[in-house]
Amino acid sequence: MKLARFSRIGFILAAAGSAVGLGNIWKFPYITGENGGGAFVFVYLITVLVIGFTLMIAEMLIGYLGRRDSVTNFEDLAPRDKHLWKYGGFIGLTGLIIMIFYSPVIGWTFHFVLVSLTSLPSSVAIAETNFTEFISIDLGSQVFYHTLVFLFVTTVVARGIKGGIEKLNFILMPILFITIAAMFFYASTLSGFTQAWDFMFAPDWSKLTSASLVTAVGHAFFTLSIGMATILTYSASLPKDSNLVRSSLIVIALDTGIALLAGLTLFTFLYEYGATPSAGPGLVFISLPTVFYEMGFLGNIFGFIFFVALASAGLTSAVSLVEPIIQYLVDRFSFSRLKASMASGLFFYLFGMIAILSISKEYGHYFTIGSMNFFDWADFVTASVMLPLGGLIMAIFVGHVMEKERVAAQLKTQLGAVYPLWYFSIRYIVPIALVVVMLNLVGIIEL
Ligand code: PFF
Repeated sequence: MKLARFSRIGFILAAAGSAVGLGNIWKFPYITGENGGGAFVFVYLITVLVIGFTLMIAEMLIGYLGRRDSVTNFEDLAPRDKHLWKYGGFIGLTGLIIMIFYSPVIGWTFHFVLVSLTSLPSSVAIAETNFTEFISIDLGSQVFYHTLVFLFVTTVVARGIKGGIEKLNFILMPILFITIAAMFFYASTLSGFTQAWDFMFAPDWSKLTSASLVTAVGHAFFTLSIGMATILTYSASLPKDSNLVRSSLIVIALDTGIALLAGLTLFTFLYEYGATPSAGPGLVFISLPTVFYEMGFLGNIFGFIFFVALASAGLTSAVSLVEPIIQYLVDRFSFSRLKASMASGLFFYLFGMIAILSISKEYGHYFTIGSMNFFDWADFVTASVMLPLGGLIMAIFVGHVMEKERVAAQLKTQLGAVYPLWYFSIRYIVPIALVVVMLNLVGIIEL
């Protein structure tokens, strides 16, 4: 089946919309805080440049040359063992598993849009109680917001690439850019800004552990949306004669730029108002609302626009997380878009309910395996295992399976003098780095 095409700018916005998400504004600042700041940021930036850049081009290439859903593309582009390589395309399933926890968290941002206007907490202790009660006792509200996310995402993707996904990104991405830039500008005038800058850019190598290395690599994948066929699926709808290298660079620059701006802004606010940067996942939902309270009326406005921006970032990523499987169902099984969107939507909706139950006080123990509940498992398995694995499959596919000439024909002119370096990186550096990271994870290698 022929796919609808993005416009050139539509593709950039949609791919950046996918990349810039909760990962940039919620996760990046708190894992930076937990892992000691500068040294972690340095490793993350190197990973983005070396592994991220190499792989994003490879992923775009598979989509752009194949022009169909991810499974069919792997099958079509493999010169041999097609029936085996087609399973590579199932890395698209990772997105549905990410949605199991991603959708409830987008729901939290909806809740905090309201909190910002009505009841900002006056102390960290109150904020902590409110947030803990919200996520562990107030199941009704969470299910309500999760339902809104399900309805919203399903409606958008059911409208297709052009009328749904491209349009959504045309509306929400400018809102996101302007909000983050405005808040950053304000933060840069405050005295806490210098401390925030030092925290993020002055590396203290003693704080870097092997666990933080793995976290940095996992996050680089998560934040760039690579390793699960999202970028691949969007690239199947790229206009003809697109420059994959330029598109990758723009998407990576936007994604990294927004993460750094969001991090600097958040840490400035936290330093300015005496909160700690190492607050963990509650950073944005506990420390920040208290800071907004301290700011007075301005804080209500800032809080409101901040959480609207965070929700927008989450929603543009959410549509990209479900799209690979939708395209697969439409392309291979002739599902209508509506039916395919409902099927993938119901999957994350129902399992998302279990994720919500798994963090609740009352039912949590039913859904806890080992030291982690279902919610944390979904996060861990996807970011630390499935995304690096997806990246490895793609690196091997483009570097060792696809014909050399075919890859070169597409990328040699676009990459110019960097081409040999890129090809070396996709054949050796990326796979070896990923294998090392994964072996470290299961404890076979100690980094
Ligand atoms: N990149 C998104 C974020 O940083 O929040 C999350 C994400 C979207 C991951 C799409 C993977 C993906 F395919």
